[in-house]
Amino acid sequence: MDYQNKLVLAPMVRVGTLPFRLLAAEYGADITYGEEIIDHKMVKCERKVNEYIGCTDFVEKGTENVVFRTCYEERNRVIFQIGTSDAVRALTAAQIVCKDVAAIDVNMGCPKSFSISGGMGAALLNKPELIHDILTTLKRNLSCPVTCKIRLLKSSQDTVELARRIEKTGVSALAVHGRKVADRPRDPAKWSEIADVVSALSIPVIANGDVFDYGDFARIKAATVMVARGALWNASVFSPEGKVHWEEVKREYVRKSILWDNDIKSTKHTLKEMIMHYSCLELPEGKGVIKSENLADIAKLYGEERYYQFVNENRFSSNGS
Ligand code: FNR
Repeated sequence: MDYQNKLVLAPMVRVGTLPFRLLAAEYGADITYGEEIIDHKMVKCERKVNEYIGCTDFVEKGTENVVFRTCYEERNRVIFQIGTSDAVRALTAAQIVCKDVAAIDVNMGCPKSFSISGGMGAALLNKPELIHDILTTLKRNLSCPVTCKIRLLKSSQDTVELARRIEKTGVSALAVHGRKVADRPRDPAKWSEIADVVSALSIPVIANGDVFDYGDFARIKAATVMVARGALWNASVFSPEGKVHWEEVKREYVRKSILWDNDIKSTKHTLKEMIMHYSCLELPEGKGVIKSENLADIAKLYGEERYYQFVNENRFSSNGS
């Protein structure tokens, strides 16, 4: 896995499922993170080859709940991100999925209360021993690359010190979101503090925060750049030819959701985020997305009924039924 000078789709809960990752890759993302999945959830899953859809599913045992879906096409670029507060549990979760993904990443930046109260995400940032324990346990026992994603600490010096400790665990790369735990998304990302980490480490640093245009990728020399909201609002941000119209990107996302039988909650959430950025949910399209109960409703809303029918008929015959 090469992390140098790459364009990276950031992990995004409810957004970074298979169709969105494939969409970003089609426009030029080299590395695509899945949404954070908590280790407690992953350890309850079993791997199932889904011949009907042509993918590999990790399904909660005894249920039909697909926790993570991937496919062969993204095998060399998809990163599985874990939320954890425990080295052994993180390892058990990672072992279930590691042969089907390019690398395992640990989320050490999430400031949400459900993460912090479980000792996960940003709660790890002030526990360097636990960070060391988790990362060395994963490193020692997995054959795939291991990385983690942090936020900035109170001072640049503190961040650099933590980054150096992380580097010593043998991780392949470190992603740095250029905001502090208390910062909100509207606060500007501090690229100079990310640059301090880049110059202090020899492993690749994945710089993250406020990249909205292809031109922004050149903002920091010798670093790989990770994009979240810029990609959510228009996944063609990764395209060197410039962005295509968001309506076109959205339609392609709808088609990929149909093709990969995406979780309806994820499809609705992602479409709502796109619509809210450019328009508003009170208009007929937004109301239609909110009302949709399944992918057939979404297909109808976007005039993709024939595609929906074609995909499902094809699955039917390839299944031999
Ligand atoms: C996120 N972020 C995030 N981070 C992470 O490590 N794991 C996750 O699952 C998520 N989920 C998530 C969902 C959504 C909808 C957003 C917008 C963000 C944080 C994200 O990866 C990134 O660090 C920040 O959004 C900053 O990057 P941008 O948005 O300034 O490019």
